[in-house]
Amino acid sequence: MEKENNNLMEKIVSLCKRRGFIFPGSEIYGGLAGTYDWGHFGVALKNNIKQYWWKKFVDSRRDMYGIDAAILMRQEVWQASGHVAGFADPMIECEKCKEKYRTDQIVDKNKCEKCGGKLIEEKMFNMMFQTKVGASDDSSAISYLRPETAQGMFVNFKNTVDAFHPKLPFGMAQIGKAFRNEITPRDFIFRVREFEQMEIEYFTREEDWEKYFEYWKGEMLSWMEEVGIDMNKVHELEVLAEDRAHYSKRTVDFEFDYPFGKKELFGLAYRTDFDLANHKLDYIDEEKSEKITPHVIEPTFGVDRAVLAILLSSYFEDPEGKQEASNGAGEKEGRVYLKFKPSIAPVICAVSPLLKNKPELVEYANTKVFASLKAEFGRVMWDDNGNIGKRYRRQDEIGTPFCIVVDFDTLTDDTVTVRDRDTGEQERIKVSDLKNYIKEKIN
Ligand code: GAP
Repeated sequence: MEKENNNLMEKIVSLCKRRGFIFPGSEIYGGLAGTYDWGHFGVALKNNIKQYWWKKFVDSRRDMYGIDAAILMRQEVWQASGHVAGFADPMIECEKCKEKYRTDQIVDKNKCEKCGGKLIEEKMFNMMFQTKVGASDDSSAISYLRPETAQGMFVNFKNTVDAFHPKLPFGMAQIGKAFRNEITPRDFIFRVREFEQMEIEYFTREEDWEKYFEYWKGEMLSWMEEVGIDMNKVHELEVLAEDRAHYSKRTVDFEFDYPFGKKELFGLAYRTDFDLANHKLDYIDEEKSEKITPHVIEPTFGVDRAVLAILLSSYFEDPEGKQEASNGAGEKEGRVYLKFKPSIAPVICAVSPLLKNKPELVEYANTKVFASLKAEFGRVMWDDNGNIGKRYRRQDEIGTPFCIVVDFDTLTDDTVTVRDRDTGEQERIKVSDLKNYIKEKIN
């Protein structure tokens, strides 16, 4: 079983590189651990996931305010938030080869996994990347790449209240990069040093925190299902007090069954009034005519882990394959396909002329099919590389729900072949009905 699981990760990593989703960072110089570069389809997938999140949690609500705060903030922000003092993992080092490990992630805390040497000197390692802002070299120039997007919202709490006068409860939402100098980045994009978060800080009166905690748990679960995460693999973990972050009085982690084990996917925390109080921010509750410090429920989603969970949930192998006998140009071997929901698939449909050396087919496919679908759906790909069977295999691996082929019959009856990714089945559809056909399918 373990071998199968390792195999699955290898297959996903290889597909992501081969098909232009995700590449190792700084690869031509030997790679930089814990960093990845996102290719054309990876960016598209990530953007669709982020847009879907923003649409559900910001655009379709009345109580949410978006923000895009600077990544660099004054060091006082991270002192007040407790990250300078406490955002650290326990680290242990090999006496012989100097390999470093996160103490809580190794089985044998005495022996180096790499060279068998003795492990020594456990110390706490602060995970924030430190940098200096400006030309000055003194300690007042110290800043950090943010380890969470959350603080960008807390420090803009007053600005948001002054600008929009929201009534409690209300939330702030942000999507952006976060950086952590992880001791041992691992498992592809699961634990990286540069990643993205989608976070909400939901401000409420203290007495209402439990109600909104439960409410946001439901919202998070429904979002996961909507973007195509396999809910049979999602588990809730009530995090024990000793394992919770310094700011949290209650945390539920949503864990996912990754091939490398059951591990955190997203989290939901009750941050109390910890952050606003430490930043000395408050709020006039007009309803109660008093000054209060609102309490915070924080649903947090890692974009990279969302991508990984969606890839793992969507990956299917069909060992038999399907006879792709589109006009006799099919292949019979097994196939791999990514069963993305159309709402997040990088490509909704691919358009092909059956033969690329037949100008009449290319002309029709380009002007009468591709151009209008591209204008309507945007995420439409022109694909005339290789024979039809190869194109289907490629589009299956990209996760394209529909492949549309213009052939010689099209020239006389204005119909095209539409091939369904999941079933491999093909239908003849009138070109004039294509847009509605696809719209119906994706809805
Ligand atoms: N503001 C709260 C916060 O940052 P967290 O549990 O430390 O909480 C939130 O991080 C989410 O960010 C995690 O649930 C995970 O999805 C993602 N995440 C955290 N560290 C990560 C890493 N090194 N690589 C990829 N994603 C990470």
